[in-house]
Amino acid sequence: MKRILVVDGGSLHAQDGARQVRNLGVYSEIVPGSAAVEVLQDSLKGPDLKGVLVVGMVSARLNELLAQVSVPVLSLDDAAPSVSVLESFLSETCGTERDWNMDTYLVQAVERIKAQVGSGRAVCGLSGGVDSAVSAALVHRAVGDQLTCIFVDHGFMRAGEGEQVVATFRERFGIPLIHVQAQDRFLEKLAGVADPEQKRRLIGIEFIRVFEEEAAKLGDVRFLVQGTVYPDILESGMGPGTLVKSHHNVGGLPADLNFELVEPLRTLFKDEVRQLGEKLGLPREMVWRHPFPGPGLAVRCLGELTREKLDILRKADAIVIEELRQAGWYDKIWQAAVVLTNVRAVGVQRGGRTYDYVVGLRFVDSRDGMTADWVRVPYELLESISNRLLGEVDGVGRVVYDISRKPPATIEWE
Ligand code: XMP
Repeated sequence: MKRILVVDGGSLHAQDGARQVRNLGVYSEIVPGSAAVEVLQDSLKGPDLKGVLVVGMVSARLNELLAQVSVPVLSLDDAAPSVSVLESFLSETCGTERDWNMDTYLVQAVERIKAQVGSGRAVCGLSGGVDSAVSAALVHRAVGDQLTCIFVDHGFMRAGEGEQVVATFRERFGIPLIHVQAQDRFLEKLAGVADPEQKRRLIGIEFIRVFEEEAAKLGDVRFLVQGTVYPDILESGMGPGTLVKSHHNVGGLPADLNFELVEPLRTLFKDEVRQLGEKLGLPREMVWRHPFPGPGLAVRCLGELTREKLDILRKADAIVIEELRQAGWYDKIWQAAVVLTNVRAVGVQRGGRTYDYVVGLRFVDSRDGMTADWVRVPYELLESISNRLLGEVDGVGRVVYDISRKPPATIEWE
């Protein structure tokens, strides 16, 4: 496969450059300019290499290496690369055909998965999130019923999400799916635990336990399908087989589960994963879903978890998402979180005194979750959300809007 190497000279625009090259129909890969010389030399080798794009400043040593390569090199200082410059670099200077797209990716990925898995059996953990969903649908396209999906319902999903996973994978795609109803088990483990880190840790451990138990029941399974995407690989420092940052892997699976990993999305950016999901026929809501943390509503239900508090939160969350969709704001917001604080406040209703929970709304814009800003939604939208929450959800007595940037505030409250 033809490729353009993007050398990241510490620029914010290296990923943009790589994505634009792909949008223009040529596969691209990123290597950090600060990588070890052997890694750089390796990436600069091979008949598949058609050109090099340097974004940002690189060391004199690297410039020497670049001077020796036989393909064209385009250096951009620290600016976002313009489409016309890239277009002429690819077509005229490098003379490459521009035929890489999600259709060709799909065909090649299916071949690669078939070659890797052979006649072996594979298992995939579904979470309701886009990465695992697209991975599962893709691997199923390649090896059919050799794949079994395991969906651990920890009870911290959004309203209707578990049902959607089952309806999509078992009923629509006909993929063998084990639906583990582990809600009680998780609540028991978390009873009385208020510390956010401890909650996350216990959920992570329990999730892996349940998954392992179910996978063991399947017998002879050799492969584990993981939805690792390209930014995960870039963030974790590029090594082959390296995994997602531990933070983002809470509610996911570790690499040392004694399976061989199948990671069919490890070279794709998130928007490409979504395009692929649409090609595979996944429902639009699943493909365009906001990011959602592995531990789910558990980290948005502050303090100790109880069934009652989770039910209030799930109901409130469903109303907020519905309102955002109706107002046409869902797709304009990167992530919308509804938080059930552990604070109650006094109110009056139907002539009596109430003492109900404060709900926080956290709507943010972001590129990658590392930094974020709160979204300036119209007051009218906040008004209709607030009216519905106060009027329809028993237990909610007050609604507040979170106007904190990240940093310093994280996106999730716990
Ligand atoms: P924070 O709260 O760190 O979140 O600003 C940044 C992004 O990461 C998501 N997030 C998680 N995702 N498992 C995940 O899969 C987790 O444990 C987890 N914690 C936070 C968060 O929703 C936001 O998109």
